[in-house]
Amino acid sequence: MTARIFFKLIAGVFCLLLVALVTVDFFTTRVARDAYVRTLADQLTGKARLLALDMDAPGRVDGARVRALAQAGAARVTVIRADGGVVADSQADAARMENHRTPNRKELMAAFAGRAGQDIRTSATLHVPFLYVAVPIPGGAVRLAEPLSLIDGQVAQVRTRILESTAMAFLPAILLAAVLARWISRRFATIMSHAVELARGNFRARLADTGNSEFGQLALTLNETAENLQSTVEQLQREHIELEKLERIRKDFVINVSHELRTPLASIQGYTETLMDGALHDPDHNMRFLGIIRHNAERLARLTEDLLTLSRIEQKRQNLEFEPRNIQALIGQAIEQVRPIAEKTEIRLVSALDPAVTEAWCDDEAVSQVFSNLLDNAIKYTPRGGTITVGVRPAGQFVEAWVSDTGAGIPSEDLPRLFERFYRVDKARSRELGGTGLGLSIVKHLVASHNGVVRVESHVNRGSTFFFTLPAEEAALPAPQLNPEFTAS
Ligand SMILES: Nc1ncnc2c1ncn2[C@@H]1O[C@H](COP(=O)(O)OP(=O)(O)OP(=O)(O)O)[C@@H](O)[C@H]1O
Ligand SMILES: [Mg+2]
Repeated sequence: MTARIFFKLIAGVFCLLLVALVTVDFFTTRVARDAYVRTLADQLTGKARLLALDMDAPGRVDGARVRALAQAGAARVTVIRADGGVVADSQADAARMENHRTPNRKELMAAFAGRAGQDIRTSATLHVPFLYVAVPIPGGAVRLAEPLSLIDGQVAQVRTRILESTAMAFLPAILLAAVLARWISRRFATIMSHAVELARGNFRARLADTGNSEFGQLALTLNETAENLQSTVEQLQREHIELEKLERIRKDFVINVSHELRTPLASIQGYTETLMDGALHDPDHNMRFLGIIRHNAERLARLTEDLLTLSRIEQKRQNLEFEPRNIQALIGQAIEQVRPIAEKTEIRLVSALDPAVTEAWCDDEAVSQVFSNLLDNAIKYTPRGGTITVGVRPAGQFVEAWVSDTGAGIPSEDLPRLFERFYRVDKARSRELGGTGLGLSIVKHLVASHNGVVRVESHVNRGSTFFFTLPAEEAALPAPQLNPEFTAS
């Protein structure tokens, strides 16, 4: 491919030089010939005038004298009377020559009119092209003629010299063109192989040579294009991975939900059938079976309630009302709500509230839900006689609240997945305690919709602390979301 470019460039230069050479040859030939003709005509006119001085009448000139004059002047000499009759000619027999007073003999017509004249044409007597010059003499004209073959020979010499010197210049020009063509074709080759790489999808390929030349600028543009393509492809790959992840989460979610629903439903179905098969009239078991059925029905209700809450938050349909709230009061209420349950298991409830923190920009119902979930877990997973502490402190534009317990703690390998839906450290124990594994997921989403973050620190057998942040000022609130119903076109 680049070889073709190379030969095309060379052939182009060659053609250009050839055209230039032909043009130069054509014009120099013309110019040289004109110059020679002019000079020769001037010389002949001068000689003719000299001869004319010596001729007072045409009748007095004979053939022998004309030949002598012709030899001395190195030209054909003809003497013609004013009536056109040829008196003498140095190269032909005058008696046989036709009358020369004819309009085609322009040099003679001029001489007969009293002026010097000249003409180029083929001689009617000798049949070769001649340059004729004639000057008037008394009673006629004297004419000198020179064959043009003389001039043609000189012009040919000039042409040969010009052609020789041009050919000499041809060689370095072609060499220079070859070097240039090679340079251009190499740059082309580099750019072309780069373009092939891009076409194959290798957007990491870069051209190294980016100078100020047009090639450099092209390389720079191609590099920028490759960079843009690469970042677009990377972005698309990232989005693809994200979509795949979301799809996996969605599938897991469906499987988990089905599984969670199946267990209590199977239990309800089983005990209902047992009761219908006769156990209803068995006073030893019927109340216990009904109790199990109620427990599972409650579990289903809790599960569907949690799922609804979660999907409402995820679809941002939960209309959160962000306003400055008294965070200390919210924590107090949350503690009081769980106090009866805590007292049952002799768990101490302590608050560690920094008095500098008075308000947080939040939705009070959502924050109550967060505290209630965290406190519920803390009580569930803290053994009798333990302590639960709820605290709040300033954290820049945010306030940080925490719920810490002296409970079972969570193994470090479980911490990264703790906030996933349905994730439970000890599935059997959680289920036994009536848990669905959605509480912390709800906490995470509620905190996130406040622009806050939630994290956990935990040590097995020593206890866990869940921290979360809430905006302390309006500026830290999330950017308002447009209602999707209005934005949908
Ligand atoms: N304070 C804690 N101490 C020890 N383990 C905890 C604590 N809080 C949560 N966990 C662990 O994290 C898991 C997930 O908690 P999460 O609140 O999401 O679910 P749950 O309490 O089992 O059920 P739900 O809250 O939906 O009724 C729990 O099953 C438990 O194993
Ligand atoms: Mg919970």
